[in-house]
Amino acid sequence: MSFSIERYKEESKKVDVTGIEWDEVAAHALSKGDLFCLHYMMDIENHVPLYLSHLLVTRACMDPILTAFLACWNYEELWHGENIGRLLNLYGIEFDTQERIANVRANLGFQNSVSLMSTMAGSWLLKDFSAVYLTIGAINELSTLTGYGALIRKSGHPVLKDLLSRIIKDERRHYAFYFNSAKEWLSGNAKAQKVDRWMLNRVWVPVGQGVKKQEEVDALAMYLFDDEQGEEELLELDAKIGKLPGLSGIKLMSKALNAARERVKRDPRWAWRLIENEEWAIKPPKRSPVGELTGRRGQPMEAEPVEAGAP
Ligand SMILES: [Fe+2]
Ligand SMILES: [Fe+2]
Repeated sequence: MSFSIERYKEESKKVDVTGIEWDEVAAHALSKGDLFCLHYMMDIENHVPLYLSHLLVTRACMDPILTAFLACWNYEELWHGENIGRLLNLYGIEFDTQERIANVRANLGFQNSVSLMSTMAGSWLLKDFSAVYLTIGAINELSTLTGYGALIRKSGHPVLKDLLSRIIKDERRHYAFYFNSAKEWLSGNAKAQKVDRWMLNRVWVPVGQGVKKQEEVDALAMYLFDDEQGEEELLELDAKIGKLPGLSGIKLMSKALNAARERVKRDPRWAWRLIENEEWAIKPPKRSPVGELTGRRGQPMEAEPVEAGAP
């Protein structure tokens, strides 16, 4: 698996949706589980700019190759969220994308600022922060594309399959960047390997957790991976991450699935009730000073006419 940053910079573009049969979206049914996953995935794709804001204040961003990647990556992820939203709207689920994004962010509240500051401080204290961040990036991208693959399989929806297959190609490139960069950082660096493994076993959480609650993360994991094939895919995923120097035998995603299963065993309604009750709507927080900073009140912006010769 090779990756060239120069080639990536040249070729990075928004996902090409030419020829997708958007008119056919509503002609094929999606289950409640499919819809739950699509809302989750869209929200996490749309969360990328905020995630990026956490990264740009870290020591990892002293690396110009990383910042070049992030500049392109952020743009590509934007279009993943936009297109999943488009598909949901065409399926007949009404929401305003900007309002939904604003509500997701407002619900994070003050926790977002605390997390940003602790990531920043932690990165400057920890010399091998990049090793941890790059490995987490690799796991996140690989779990995202594995999740999209599982949703294609579960839903059997032809238009969704077409869209997600195109998005998966982008995710593969993102994964290749993170994996190769993590490998480079970890190779021959025993201390970084030790720190990486230690941190992953303690601070790593599945992609989306933090924006989504534990029960929502579990609902996604149970719906997509709680069968023989799903479990196998997560074991394979862990095995791929285990190929990074110092991470042999590490269990992350398969461990998260087992933990979700345990919680469901203790309470059989856990996670599934969210899917059953169609709890994918995002309500604005009842009272939030952060909420006042998000969303645009009033009419959509229109370009002011500019007189000829004006600066
Ligand atoms: Fe994405
Ligand atoms: Fe990605």
